[in-house]
Amino acid sequence: MTQQMILESIEINGQSVLVPAGQSVAAALFAAGISIFRHTHEENAPRSIFCGMGTCFDCLVTIDGIPNQRACMTLVHSGMKIRTTANEND
Ligand code: FES
Repeated sequence: MTQQMILESIEINGQSVLVPAGQSVAAALFAAGISIFRHTHEENAPRSIFCGMGTCFDCLVTIDGIPNQRACMTLVHSGMKIRTTANEND
């Protein structure tokens, strides 16, 4: 018996993508080729996944208009809109 993968349609920085249901936002971002999620305010240092378990807050992104959400602790859902801030300074 084979299992069917359920896909969710989400938006990452304005681009529509399909991702497996139950995947974390961080995993979805990496799968989309985004490895830098934000930069620090003072030193403009790139940040991404560090702890992967919700304690370091390095993976903050904006989800459905709400800033500073931990990508490693949030699961994707259909229609989710994710924005990384790394590209806003470009
Ligand atoms: S990677 Fe540490 S809180 Fe998300």
